[in-house]
Amino acid sequence: MNARYHAPKGTYDLLAPRSELFLAVVDTLSRQLSLAGYGFIQTPIFEETALFVRGVGESTDVVQKEMYTFEDRAGRSLTLRPEGTAGVMRAVIEHNLLGGSLPVKLWYCGPNFRYEQPQSGRYRQHTQVGAEAVGGDDPLLDAELIALADAGFRQLGMKDYLLKVTTLGCSVCRPAYRERLTAYLAQLPLDEATRTRAALNPLRVLDDKRPEVRALVADAPTMRDHVCAQCAVHFDTVTSALLAWGVAFTIDPFLVRGLDYYTKTTFEFVHNKLGAQSSIGGGGRYDGLIAQLGGPETSGVGFGIGVDRVMLACEAEGLQPHDESRVDVFGLGLTAAARTAVAAVIVDLRARGIRADMSFGERGLKGAMRAADRSGATYALVVGDRDLESGHVQVKNLTDGTQVSVPLGDVLKHIAESLNEGKQSL
Ligand code: HAM
Repeated sequence: MNARYHAPKGTYDLLAPRSELFLAVVDTLSRQLSLAGYGFIQTPIFEETALFVRGVGESTDVVQKEMYTFEDRAGRSLTLRPEGTAGVMRAVIEHNLLGGSLPVKLWYCGPNFRYEQPQSGRYRQHTQVGAEAVGGDDPLLDAELIALADAGFRQLGMKDYLLKVTTLGCSVCRPAYRERLTAYLAQLPLDEATRTRAALNPLRVLDDKRPEVRALVADAPTMRDHVCAQCAVHFDTVTSALLAWGVAFTIDPFLVRGLDYYTKTTFEFVHNKLGAQSSIGGGGRYDGLIAQLGGPETSGVGFGIGVDRVMLACEAEGLQPHDESRVDVFGLGLTAAARTAVAAVIVDLRARGIRADMSFGERGLKGAMRAADRSGATYALVVGDRDLESGHVQVKNLTDGTQVSVPLGDVLKHIAESLNEGKQSL
């Protein structure tokens, strides 16, 4: 059948069983954050446009080319959030969360929207699991966040990725470095477009992917070599903690993030099997952002992990950190009366926390068995009129084909025990 409507360009529908992988990724990453005391926050999917222009930075591609901006019916300029940090900082300031105990640790999960050229791993709507720790200067907070992301990836079974870290300096050392870099870039034979980028933000030229530009900037001065004493100590503390905790990393002084708010520690997790869109997550410190958005002079650090890309990475590594079966038990009643009896058992199973579904309507044994197979259930409960009369249920093990007749009153216990045994023998 030819569908008349399609998901908009750069977006996709998440269908079962792949959607189970999505849930497993979100669950695994967020569990690490909960373990470390991060509380869940949800902010609106759209915000005032000015928040992103100010927060994300006017020189960024995100603000210049990628925002979904629209006027509402009252003429307000609103934007679908392209990332999570600006909205979370707005909420932190609005609700005076910095007035309580510090640091404030928050995590979130949700869709972000960027009008980018779609390709594998790059979408116009993508989901991030993000975390922000606000109101703390301690470099151990930076290290903790990095280690939590790493622990989440490991928990999912991922191995084929790399962590890159660097420091971007602070308001003390960055301006002098920026000047030095600008002077260096000015004497290179760069094309006009690159010069314009350099004028807006010279650091971005270091991140140019074209080999000819890479070769030109290979000897450019790096921030890491020009940080002030305080930033140097901060960065050393972060890297020492990562070493002590066994989190593998490389220092990449050419790492440049796509958003303007970063200071000091910045990092990116890059997966080796994802081609061009290899960044599965990134973040860093943003010490000026809260004040810039009208809040107190305080610092923060955070990350965003791209759930869509982590799913692709799991698939590329052949990992299956989720259970593809929808249910454990599937009920089949061969007549209307038998279906009513089966339905009662299914409801009881669910009340005990056992995942259970059943065949609805007149389908015949063959069709119902096919539905049972498709559900991924381990056990089918088959009830015909004769079973009803004798008060029995046929419990069929769909994995090995064996079948036993169990008195109706014992079915719950039988299933609970069998499922438990199955789990223990894994
Ligand atoms: P970001 O690096 O722009 O950072 O995005 C974080 C992650 O989201 C990326 O590493 C990538 O995995 C994923 N991602 C970004 N754009 C797309 C896209 N078009 N399609 C698929 N996945 C994508 C931030 O957004 C910051 N807010 C992170 C942060 C939080 N920094 C401090 N706190």
